[in-house]
Amino acid sequence: MKITVTSGALAEQKADALIVSLLEGAAELTGAAHTLNQTLNGALQELITNGDFTGKLNATAVVYTRGLIASPRVILVGLGKAEKFSTDKVRLASATATQKARDLGAKRVASVAHGDSLEPSRAAQATVEGALLGAYEYQKNGTQPGKQLDELSLVEAEPARLAAVQTGAQAGQHIAESTNFARDLVNQPPNICIPEYMASKAREIAQEVGLTCKIMEPAEMQELGMGALLAVGAASDIPARFIILEHRPAGTDNMAPVVLVGKGITFDSGGLSIKPADSMPEMKSDMGGGAAVLGAMRAVGALKLPLPIIGLVPTTENVIGSTGFRPADVLRASNGKTIEIISTDAEGRLILADALVYAGRYKPAAVIDLATLTGACIVALGSDMAAGLFGSDDALMAKLRAASDRTGERIWPLPLYEEYRERINSDVADLKNSGGDRFAGIGISAAFLQEFAEGYPWAHLDIAPMAYLSRPKTPWAKGGTGFGVRLLVELLQSWKN
Ligand code: BES
Ligand code: MN
Ligand code: ZN
Repeated sequence: MKITVTSGALAEQKADALIVSLLEGAAELTGAAHTLNQTLNGALQELITNGDFTGKLNATAVVYTRGLIASPRVILVGLGKAEKFSTDKVRLASATATQKARDLGAKRVASVAHGDSLEPSRAAQATVEGALLGAYEYQKNGTQPGKQLDELSLVEAEPARLAAVQTGAQAGQHIAESTNFARDLVNQPPNICIPEYMASKAREIAQEVGLTCKIMEPAEMQELGMGALLAVGAASDIPARFIILEHRPAGTDNMAPVVLVGKGITFDSGGLSIKPADSMPEMKSDMGGGAAVLGAMRAVGALKLPLPIIGLVPTTENVIGSTGFRPADVLRASNGKTIEIISTDAEGRLILADALVYAGRYKPAAVIDLATLTGACIVALGSDMAAGLFGSDDALMAKLRAASDRTGERIWPLPLYEEYRERINSDVADLKNSGGDRFAGIGISAAFLQEFAEGYPWAHLDIAPMAYLSRPKTPWAKGGTGFGVRLLVELLQSWKN
């Protein structure tokens, strides 16, 4: 979808639908919607006065303009209660209204930047993000696209706000398109989205937004002693990859980079510790962390953020074969630590182990990993509720929580007690990869990662509750969500070492 910013009055636009919004319970329309209402002889206000449209969050009403203006219809969308208003509500309402327009067959829509009380750039950013995320549809392999919008025009009547609206709209477009890029990766079937596919997508975005890209193959992983990553991939004929994307703007050579690490299991069967058949198909989404890191790198490149940022994605599938690893095996990771395998299904922490060790060579200012790591996190927090947050550095975790508040991508802190580490003491190795029962599953997974995230501030996001939704709260978020892209970009936009 093309995004444009236009200066002028909404009523004067020629589009298939105009979009305006209202706070719940507001007695009167304000700003551009008020002006539009006057041009329409009070048609919008009548809906409100009669109580037919109350501004309830995500409620919509369509008003036909009957030749009074060039656009045939106006879509009203509710922003919800003033007390609960935030940029996230703008995003939701914009997604809903855009979807409505698309379903009505509109090609061109013109909208205000929703949220009069917000900074204009943030209002514009959230409006554009919502529109692009709401209009997203996974395009099934080999099919023609369904109804699609061609253009969204943000219309701003106030000349003093125009520049900010332009900046916000542009940022929103980069961020939402990068989120949709991540969603596409997650939605692809696991016979197509194999490690080399992830690598080819990384090369593509590197080209597109100006990053450097290096792809390691198994031979090089072997040289680096990445025994944990290699073991997870050992059963498969489809070779593993280790993706390295670097964003290094001129003049930032002396700055310590932020390193993002994403779990890239393209399919998690559980290995010999096999998963039940009914929960297996969803495991195509086990590269959701890796997809979010690639998406975030695409966005930081496009936005030309003024700091060095590195993206690392270890990617492999976890399947079954005679060359595969087994429960009771002992592996050696690239920092020399030995790992006793209790469950081949606790594979994400193994590939992250070698990636977190690799991250150390950048002398990073911070390392943040994202992973669909545990079912226990879904049990604890609930699907589509929040991602789990762990870490070794309170300041870094506070920055992440602030970015979470600003984006509405929810994360929630969970403890990393020393005692969790004791649960993975091993008789035959430095540590084991699972506690072996169903208790404290999240704490143990984070304690495991911490053994490999040494020498830098580190945070871990368990995005298992968020990466892939079969029954989302909002209808437009079904399937891969791209969770983490907006959060990471928001964090990095305000980053100070
Ligand atoms: N990829 C799964 C975690 C997961 C489960 C993500 C459901 C999304 C939805 C992970 O590799 C896994 O299998 N974890 C095990 C760990 C256990 C064996 C210690 C789990 O959570 O059961
Ligand atoms: Mn697993
Ligand atoms: Zn997994």
